[in-house]
Amino acid sequence: MMARITASVYTSHVPAIGAAIDLGKTAEPYWQPVFAGYEKSKQWMRDNTPDVIFLVYNDHATAFSLEMIPTFAIGCAAEFQPADEGWGPRPVPKVIGHPELASHIAQSVIQDDFDLTIVNKMDVDHGLTVPLSLMCGQPAAWPCPVIPFAVNVVQYPVPSGRRCFMLGQAIRKAIASFDAPLKVQIWGTGGMSHQLQGPRAGLINQEFDNAFLDQLIADPAALSNKPHIDYVREAGSEGIELVMWLIARGAMADVNGAGAKPTVRHRFYHVPASNTAVGHLILENN
Ligand code: DHB
Ligand code: FE
Repeated sequence: MMARITASVYTSHVPAIGAAIDLGKTAEPYWQPVFAGYEKSKQWMRDNTPDVIFLVYNDHATAFSLEMIPTFAIGCAAEFQPADEGWGPRPVPKVIGHPELASHIAQSVIQDDFDLTIVNKMDVDHGLTVPLSLMCGQPAAWPCPVIPFAVNVVQYPVPSGRRCFMLGQAIRKAIASFDAPLKVQIWGTGGMSHQLQGPRAGLINQEFDNAFLDQLIADPAALSNKPHIDYVREAGSEGIELVMWLIARGAMADVNGAGAKPTVRHRFYHVPASNTAVGHLILENN
């Protein structure tokens, strides 16, 4: 039996959410509605624990400074430590990788004409650890190995939604050709609308976000044609993080007529958390 993608998960990665968890503030009135939206998700994770998570996220000039900026980077190491982003590493478990599957995906996707940077040592920042905390709570160890897949959405030029969507399709093909019966989830993280800098700091666009969620579910191929400037104009400078969701969506079974439409297991939207609109989806392959 070959490996297969069972589901995709989409979620924001707001660093203040990580701080709220680490400092025991999740029950405070400001935070309670955010975490309430993930209660169902944590139960779903317990009921549907995969063998591996392929976690698409962005590094925030933590592992990759402005000295070196890979567009797409795949973590092939055996483990990854939580990064110190200026106030000490988050008190969360280290991330155990899956070097065999990661190397296989690198082989397949690079031979399919996508340029990936192979990373054999890196620390992982809030872009990766906050989604794990939201979905898994505060366990002593993360429930399964995680392959970190970092996308540059911090320093221009960033990859287009269309390229991300095509990359997702190549990742699905790669996973489907791995000769082991692994259940793999693919996560697309970051977003939703937010801008952290300049005169428009604090921008949130609920109409854009909800239309994005609708179209991500129903017609991701059309959504993938949205130009990057539209994300920046409509969803703020950091709203461009949303192109990462198209990698996960491109890896689902219905894309290119390959299989049935996914089931929407959970959908959640909340404004605001810190400066950011929080969006979350769980889609299951049928
Ligand atoms: C915030 C959101 C982000 O995506 C990020 O990387 C840093 C800060 C915020 O809303 O504060
Ligand atoms: Fe971010």
